Amino acid sequence: MTHSTLLLCLVSILFSSATACDRCVHEAKAAYFSKASALSSGACGYGSLAMELSGGHLTAAVPTLYKDGAGCGACFQIRCKNPTLCTKAGTRVILTDLNHNNQTDFFLSSRAFMAMAQTGMGQQILKLGIVDIEYKRVPCEYKNQNLAVRVEESSKKPDYLAVQFLYQGGQTEIVAVDVAQVGSSNWSFMSRNNGTVWETSRVPAGALQFRLVVTAGYDGKWIWAKQVLPADWKPGSLYDAGLQITDIAQEGCSPCDDSIWSS
Ligand SMILES: *[C@@H]1O[C@H](CO)[C@@H](O)[C@H](O)[C@H]1NC(C)=O
Ligand SMILES: *[C@@H]1O[C@H](CO)[C@@H](O)[C@H](O)[C@H]1NC(C)=O
Ligand SMILES: *[C@@H]1O[C@H](CO)[C@@H](O)[C@H](O)[C@H]1NC(C)=O
Repeated sequence: MTHSTLLLCLVSILFSSATACDRCVHEAKAAYFSKASALSSGACGYGSLAMELSGGHLTAAVPTLYKDGAGCGACFQIRCKNPTLCTKAGTRVILTDLNHNNQTDFFLSSRAFMAMAQTGMGQQILKLGIVDIEYKRVPCEYKNQNLAVRVEESSKKPDYLAVQFLYQGGQTEIVAVDVAQVGSSNWSFMSRNNGTVWETSRVPAGALQFRLVVTAGYDGKWIWAKQVLPADWKPGSLYDAGLQITDIAQEGCSPCDDSIWSS
């Protein structure tokens, strides 16, 4: 680490502890879906891969969290507020679907819903059906798993490329995506389609690199994946981006609770 990057780190640590909040706590209600498959075929378009993203701990959430698809893949720690039934830690879920129901903010997979309960209380919490909760956004962590790029089935050389980012770490959103041939600086911007799909009809030839903008702190930050798709990329295939996202977008709230709940 050079002196200037060290200084930059120190300054940003001091700055964030003084004025910013990593994790704001919110109050809400949660219910559950009895079939996790109802969520994995959700609006985010993860399909069957959704089950792998968080061990079946999935959730649908209201439009303010879904954010027209930008919220897909976000991770939340959710705990129920009934101290005789529930643990202090609660459970961690990943957003895979949009919830249109206005009675409750989250619809969890039943596996995630039961995971909020203390040992032996799983059936009791299911009987309640809907519970008061506290939740916070938390970083998504994928052990030994880089960010991955899936080429959507609808992609067609040479006129149309649609990709989806999977296993996205950190606690932030991808706000822009560009694609170019490896080694070229002729970038084509991609547009966000429904859910998590980014698309372009200006498809560069050859092997492809991507650059993404994510929110880090309060600012945009470039993430550059220099070699992702081979020249013979195939619709339906998943490719390693060669890096992972670890940035955290700051929220504003008071009081700030930056702890990660644990039992
Ligand atoms: C909730 O949704 C139902 C059905 O969509 C609707 O009839 C009702 O007015 C809504 N309630 C509120 C408070 O928005
Ligand atoms: C987005 O999704 C809606 C509803 O699922 C669908 O009607 C619409 O055609 C989709 N748009 C695109 C561009 O895929
Ligand atoms: C840049 O890339 C686009 C899309 O592949 C292509 O249509 C265009 O001709 C390229 N421009 C230059 C200057 O190479």
